Amino acid sequence: MRPLIVIGNWKLNGSLARNQDWVKAVAHGMESGIPSGRKFAVCPPFPYLQQCAQLIKEHSLAFLNLGAQDASAHSSGAYTGEVSASMLTELGCTYVIVGHSERRLLHHEIDEVGAAKALQVLDHGMTPVICVGETADERNSGRAEAIVCGQVAKQVNVLQDRLADCLIAYEPVWAIGTGKVASAQVAQDMHRAIRLRLAEFDEDVASHVGILYGGSVKPDNAIELFAMPDIDGGLVGGASLNPQEFLAICQA
Ligand code: 13P
Repeated sequence: MRPLIVIGNWKLNGSLARNQDWVKAVAHGMESGIPSGRKFAVCPPFPYLQQCAQLIKEHSLAFLNLGAQDASAHSSGAYTGEVSASMLTELGCTYVIVGHSERRLLHHEIDEVGAAKALQVLDHGMTPVICVGETADERNSGRAEAIVCGQVAKQVNVLQDRLADCLIAYEPVWAIGTGKVASAQVAQDMHRAIRLRLAEFDEDVASHVGILYGGSVKPDNAIELFAMPDIDGGLVGGASLNPQEFLAICQA
């Protein structure tokens, strides 16, 4: 049985004061009980990881894991601006997002770079959250499944059976930050296609890998999405900034 996992991706948002209020509000909201059999994480920008780790400890939020939004494909050296997986482990991270479509689009990251980052993350005992997804043009021209399964295949080529320790996030680019959520059935169909692609490599890996949906997840669509057999949770952007919305999605 795969656990339901909800991961908040704050992207380029937050401040020392705002983060403090967020953790306090989540701690308060969870006082009435934490849904069992589920996992939760939040991914603040790098400079706030240490502060958030400390706040999570202060508020005894053991159920809330810490994640990062990216990691370097390199372990150390002359890579100005990059942050290594070993640094993220030191700061208490459990999850690391790799290959997000915003990294692909704005920083020209290709699948192979995402896979190299995932290897670094795995080598340091954390779980990579590998993002895949098609653009609106790719969907409208009937190529969505081929594009996404092609992205998954590139991860399979590099990661092989280490994929069993990864999460995949299906994030259709046209649904990110647009309010245009994929219908639960459209998302389920793609999650199924991803699982079948993984099963071509190894059926055991395919049945164990958690596949999260991301793209305009909100409290009012999370219930239907999470009820789908191949959707194992959500990677939540905008709605995760609001502690009440994040809580409602965690409880969906
Ligand atoms: P939104 O939930 O804001 O659409 O963002 C999704 C996302 O990109 C999460 O990584």
